[in-house]
Amino acid sequence: MFSQLQTVATDPILGLMAEYKADLNPNKVDLGVGVYKDEQGHTAVLKCVKEAEALRLKQEDSKTYIGMAGDLTFNSHIEKLAFGQAHQVLLANRVTTAHTPGGTGALRVAAEFIKRANPSATIWVTTPTWANHISLFQAAGLKVKEYAYYDYETKGLQSEQMFADLNNIPAGDVVLVHACCHNPSGMDLNFEQWQRFTAIARERGFTPLVDMAYQGFGTGLDEDAAGLRYLADNVPELLLCSSCSKNFGLYRERIGAVSIVTENSKVAEIARVNLLSVVRSIYSMPPAHGAIIVSHILDSKELTALWHQELAEMRNRINDYRQLIIDKLAAEGVTDDFSFITRQHGMFSFLGINRAQIDRLKAEFSIYMVGSSRVSIAGLNHSNIDYFAKSVATVLKS
Ligand code: LMR
Repeated sequence: MFSQLQTVATDPILGLMAEYKADLNPNKVDLGVGVYKDEQGHTAVLKCVKEAEALRLKQEDSKTYIGMAGDLTFNSHIEKLAFGQAHQVLLANRVTTAHTPGGTGALRVAAEFIKRANPSATIWVTTPTWANHISLFQAAGLKVKEYAYYDYETKGLQSEQMFADLNNIPAGDVVLVHACCHNPSGMDLNFEQWQRFTAIARERGFTPLVDMAYQGFGTGLDEDAAGLRYLADNVPELLLCSSCSKNFGLYRERIGAVSIVTENSKVAEIARVNLLSVVRSIYSMPPAHGAIIVSHILDSKELTALWHQELAEMRNRINDYRQLIIDKLAAEGVTDDFSFITRQHGMFSFLGINRAQIDRLKAEFSIYMVGSSRVSIAGLNHSNIDYFAKSVATVLKS
């Protein structure tokens, strides 16, 4: 039976990670996968995480099963982090949350949940979107369609086309929207665009699915959730998938959450039992470690303050490099306008260079970025920014 298998293409992001690892060029630069790196090119464990892990080691007294919803303290913290301390959907018991193996796990659980609620739902995603969104939803058996989002010409949002597309989406379908730090383009909805999005969702009756994998990497924890909070104030129901991979640096611990907001607490209870039954049929219950680390951090004023500080450091370093890329390219004599880089948010920038140039940067200079020209800015540091700028200038000029 196995000999009948056909080979499949490697994932465009994780495949690039493997290629980078195998490259022997000492000057290689990794701008591929969305992982934060410091000035030394290292993805360090956050100090707040180290302290929380020490506490966990001391306090943990059982390895018994955690339950299908995962760690309830974590779930309550993550709801407050996303919606704000006293959001009306929380006060009215309209939210049910399960912690999941990573943000990807949250998306898969969300997809299975949507299928239970409406097996014929189509899920609409932005053009472009995270490389794994489409295959993940299709693998769960959902139909996937795209709505206009990024404008490759103006390097901004195609907002009028986007709103026109959204205005044609029927009730019963689901629309995925990135809460902040759009992956891959870095172009986010402004608040006025969130208001228009919300008005259309209400009028058309489709259900929003907010993917929030980068809360705190754009402008700040509350600022990055402002669109989500407004949406939750104004629509009867939505799904939220969040991740602690980036903002807590817990990538390999696989910790995320899926939250379902329903029109009232009665529906929330029915959603809760369905959510748990979906989880049971996939992986039974999530691993505990990452959730308990996050709970320990958010339970403690001191560790929360340390986390805020470490998160701000990561965010500020990336933002500093946005300007530095523009300055260094100009210093190399590049006359093309790259000012759009400072209008983008989060871990990524779309450089807007073509496929041949991207391939040449990899083959000749060992500079790795995703084929869409998405660069993970944290891969740059003072030791490689000049090499990067010179190499990009070389491929742009020839
Ligand atoms: C990315 O987009 O690079 C990250 O979300 C990592 C991944 O799993 O693709």
